[in-house]
Amino acid sequence: MSRYDVQGRLELEDRIRATVLPEQGRIPMFTYTDPAVYELEIERIFGRTWLFVGHVSEIPRAGSFVTRTMGEESVIVGRGDDAVVRVFLNACRHRGMRLACEDFGEVNNWRCPYHGFTYGSKGEFLGTFMGAPFEKVAYPEGLDRAALHLVEARCETYKGLIFATWSKEGPSLDEFLGDAKWYLDLIVGRAEMEVVGYPERWIVPTNWRLPAENFASDAYHTATAHSFLQRLGMVKGADFGRDGYHVDTGGGHGLGVGVHLDDQSYFPAELAAEYASNLDDDQLNTLSRLKNLHGNVFPNFTFLIPNFIEVDGQRVSGAMLRVWQPAGPNKTQVWSWHFVEKNAPDWWKKLGKRMYTQTFSSSGMFDQDDTENWEMQTRVSDGALYRDEDFVLHYGMGLDLPTLAKDEFPGPGDVYDGKFSEAAARTYYKVWRDRIVQEKR
Ligand code: FES
Ligand code: FE
Repeated sequence: MSRYDVQGRLELEDRIRATVLPEQGRIPMFTYTDPAVYELEIERIFGRTWLFVGHVSEIPRAGSFVTRTMGEESVIVGRGDDAVVRVFLNACRHRGMRLACEDFGEVNNWRCPYHGFTYGSKGEFLGTFMGAPFEKVAYPEGLDRAALHLVEARCETYKGLIFATWSKEGPSLDEFLGDAKWYLDLIVGRAEMEVVGYPERWIVPTNWRLPAENFASDAYHTATAHSFLQRLGMVKGADFGRDGYHVDTGGGHGLGVGVHLDDQSYFPAELAAEYASNLDDDQLNTLSRLKNLHGNVFPNFTFLIPNFIEVDGQRVSGAMLRVWQPAGPNKTQVWSWHFVEKNAPDWWKKLGKRMYTQTFSSSGMFDQDDTENWEMQTRVSDGALYRDEDFVLHYGMGLDLPTLAKDEFPGPGDVYDGKFSEAAARTYYKVWRDRIVQEKR
């Protein structure tokens, strides 16, 4: 269905309204790989919502930049010569050529490789003799410099995380993240964090939503999908219990908090003072009981403190961020960042890197398990695409579970006792449906 087929779109919206029923725990499988659904997602979700595009430590100096993708569009995430972080469409205003063809770099200005139009680090078309080659001869009537400013997205940061949106109006990043911020603090706000190397990227033949909702809501799969890692002793110290909490923060963001019952925190004692200066008492207490934390900010930004495992006799975990970058209805480019506390002791940094390589990375054993499932689900969805709506997936776990009171768990949002629930996935799909379906006319 073409994006200009208005009637077809209205029919698709009706079909989605009638069949995507997360309130009843029902999601039809055709939604995962239908190209027309994907087209709506790119336009109405990725074209309008806040998207994670990087971390401030990736662009430390004036002129540093990285190139990223919002929806299907390349963007430049750069730090201007005034130190401000901005996000631009990676396209020259003359004929639309890509300005930055590299993954990252450092520049005084961007010079278009096609005809040489030049832009400053704040996105401005540069002054006479700098902006366009042979400007006086080629444009004797002059150029409207303001109209040639790079197309700029709205950009805000939270604890070093850079987000951008094409939407000129709508909620601030702070409002958008809402209650998810309390939990994000545990991973990116607990200390001064920095990225380790450049983010890894690889392609998975899956729809982007399957991994996103997995991290938002699915602790249930771990005991089966990852069980052989424990049974064969391939990842020492990993276990997959339900101990902990399932959290639906609203807004389509969801997460799971795994806890241990030991007296002592698993995090390094050397960082205790820094944690204490960055977190409140409730957050600090939660961090000291933490065994793992997995979550997803709507639509496709995942955060993870993996299960602590044993490496060289030491218990170690870390901080990881992911973006499930859509690259078609059944293709996803995974972006994976490994983070560490800047002031961490060497052993935590060194072993944390090995833990990352071993668990959740392009070579990670957990990723291999998960990828297999997402790929096969996507194939089934492709096959089920044109069947009737009876092929409905079951999202009913925990439909009637009560939420915990504030004195039972201090974190915000709807919190459920134990990690086995699909409440966060149901909210994810409510938000998803309401964003891609327009108001009924
Ligand atoms: Fe950039 Fe022509 S396309 S200068
Ligand atoms: Fe998994």
